[in-house]
Amino acid sequence: MPKITWVLDGGREISANVAVGHNLMEAAVANNVPDVIGECGGCLSCATCHVYVDPAWAEKTGKPGEMENDMLEITTAERREMSRLSCQIIATEELDGLILHVPHI
Ligand code: FES
Repeated sequence: MPKITWVLDGGREISANVAVGHNLMEAAVANNVPDVIGECGGCLSCATCHVYVDPAWAEKTGKPGEMENDMLEITTAERREMSRLSCQIIATEELDGLILHVPHI
């Protein structure tokens, strides 16, 4: 199972091993990561699962799809180059060690 680390605004880190195939919004909620809400349950209609992918992981997580890209326009925290909606990132073995920065909302 890949280990995912969420870095909170302020520096605190929460790490968890996430089952392959689970999306990283569900994983954040299951591990009580603050400020990742996942209000729509992962159907791309709320943008409350916004995170910033650590730049070192940009290639492995890929870029947002068209609908995700549109939804990233309505995030509460500012959109940045590394912004993603974490419900659209699926845990794979390749993502073992992934670091996600969580904006404070
Ligand atoms: Fe709603 Fe990701 S959980 S867009």
